[in-house]
Amino acid sequence: MPSRLTEPDRPNLHAETALARHDAALSVSTQPMVPPLELSAVFQVPSLDVVDAIYEGRESGFIYARDGHPNLVQLAAKLAAMEGAEAGWVGASGMAVESALMLAVLAQGAHVALANGVYGKTNRLTNELVRYGVSVSRFEATDPESLRGALTAQTRLVFVETLSNPLLRVADLAGLARVCREAGTLLAVDHTFAPLLCKPIELGANIVLHSVTKLIGGHSDVTLGAIVGPRELIGQIAATGSTFGLTGNPFDCWLAARGLVTLAVRSRQAVQSALVLAQRLETDPRVKRVHYPGLASHPDHKLATVLLGGGCGTIVTIDLGDRHRANALIQAIAGQIPFAPSLGDVATTLSHPATTSHRGQSPEQWAAQGITEGLIRLSIGLEHPDDLWSEFQAALGQISA
Ligand SMILES: Cc1ncc(COP(=O)(O)O)c(C=O)c1O
Repeated sequence: MPSRLTEPDRPNLHAETALARHDAALSVSTQPMVPPLELSAVFQVPSLDVVDAIYEGRESGFIYARDGHPNLVQLAAKLAAMEGAEAGWVGASGMAVESALMLAVLAQGAHVALANGVYGKTNRLTNELVRYGVSVSRFEATDPESLRGALTAQTRLVFVETLSNPLLRVADLAGLARVCREAGTLLAVDHTFAPLLCKPIELGANIVLHSVTKLIGGHSDVTLGAIVGPRELIGQIAATGSTFGLTGNPFDCWLAARGLVTLAVRSRQAVQSALVLAQRLETDPRVKRVHYPGLASHPDHKLATVLLGGGCGTIVTIDLGDRHRANALIQAIAGQIPFAPSLGDVATTLSHPATTSHRGQSPEQWAAQGITEGLIRLSIGLEHPDDLWSEFQAALGQISA
């Protein structure tokens, strides 16, 4: 029981009036253990001077939730601290923060350099920007010299993913950051596949982005994105994000903050299981190939061991040779491990890049990225790896029978 409540004046109002008025906040001498979910879309401001002070940054406070709200600010601050950045902002999805970034830093005539093989919608986003007078060129994330060749005098942004999807090529973040610093351009790293495995900002990146929908949310019940970096730049990105209506909502921010609490232990467990499973799958003759940077057979294994102090990630991609066998495995294992084209859930899930994340691309585009219809991407969760291994063995037995 609260020790004392503030008793609002209760004059003799009509029921419509009394009920229409929101209650005053409780005045109690305790604090909630868990940060409250604050759904308010708008905030009461005591005076015009306070409005001015908040908009001019002289006082802290909130006015309109699209411009910022408590659950967003708490989540953004925690993610900025996790990445060693000055400030952060949270958008309505991973794509929302990518859009806010590009709309904030690019203008007509600007050039963006994009790593080959980034998430399909990121590719599509930069292709959309061509209509607004932005030019795009591509480079190999594993090869900083190829970035040097892709830069122009108008390059304002270089965009790369730490681990590519689905073959998990490892970006040479330190080398790319060096090239960007020399050229005076911003390096943005989509770190969705690799939270806590390394800190891109320590390696010289300016901006880090996450699809919070994935490992940070961790339970497939949030759609959100986050971006962290220098305070002034994040302020510009947040302002652009608010103008374009891209701000993350309170409930998803609250859920993501709850997911973030367990990120480190979830990640550690899933990374360990991913390595165990990748090693075992590699010994199975029914699997044509296993792609995992923690395996000596991966082309970027050496770089991964230097760059990824937190382990080689929770994603393992296997090649079963053709679409028919991939489809058969998906159906054989469906009762235990669902085909659900996302990643980062507490439960292990499967995806099929050719029909989902890389859908709509030509066979030539697939070939250029090493994608085949036999590839299945595993997002490893928190199950015991022995159980996962038994389930894969049983399913592989069924498709080979
Ligand atoms: C690497 C990467 N970046 C960005 C996104 C976009 O995130 P969202 O789905 O939250 O918009 C995804 C989504 O799958 C992704 O895999």
